[in-house]
Amino acid sequence: MARLALDHAVAVPADILDLGCGTGLCGVHVHPAARRLAGVDISSGMLEKARARGVYTELACAEIVEYLRERDAEFDLIVASDVLVYFGDLAPVVAGARRALRGGGCLVYSVEAADGADWELAGTRRYRHSKAYLETVAAAAGFVVATIDAQVLRRDADADVLGLLAVLRVPGLGTSSDDREVAARDGGRA
Ligand SMILES: C[S@@+](CC[C@H](N)C(=O)[O-])C[C@H]1O[C@@H](n2cnc3c(N)ncnc32)[C@H](O)[C@@H]1O
Repeated sequence: MARLALDHAVAVPADILDLGCGTGLCGVHVHPAARRLAGVDISSGMLEKARARGVYTELACAEIVEYLRERDAEFDLIVASDVLVYFGDLAPVVAGARRALRGGGCLVYSVEAADGADWELAGTRRYRHSKAYLETVAAAAGFVVATIDAQVLRRDADADVLGLLAVLRVPGLGTSSDDREVAARDGGRA
């Protein structure tokens, strides 16, 4: 996922936010592209391990939606690897990420895939989300969907766990095809 995120970074070095950073597994991969690398996690134990990696410029012990409420156009890239599986309704976190990103910035995240429902709670106590739902939430928050791709995330109890990797872009800045798509949809006003 980190590779995908860096492929969509608008500029390097970038100001990057790692949501639900855990022990910093994603942070170590995006760190070379970062001017600022902020990590946020609700678990102080996880943050201790993340701090030991020495790649974050700042770490905050906070709930993600609360943390994002205080951020406004501060980041170029936000990554959320294997954390939005703990959220059913993704609208508050996606809207918060949209606010925290600058024009042209990207939110890159992974979820486990649901077939029909918008979201469902699996027996693993993790939520699954459908692609259609991710698209709806992205549009409502003002993102352009760059890609939402299916991918096997891992093996669990001898079975593949199918996921979705989403790359959402804030319109504006640059001349990406995403922006041209928005401009065309808005009759050239974007
Ligand atoms: C499965 S780990 C993934 C860690 C890391 N992103 C990775 O890819 O290895 C999920 C992390 O999200 C954190 N987390 C879950 N819900 C959260 C919330 N609402 N606010 C902040 N952190 C949260 C957990 O404490 C945990 O460290």
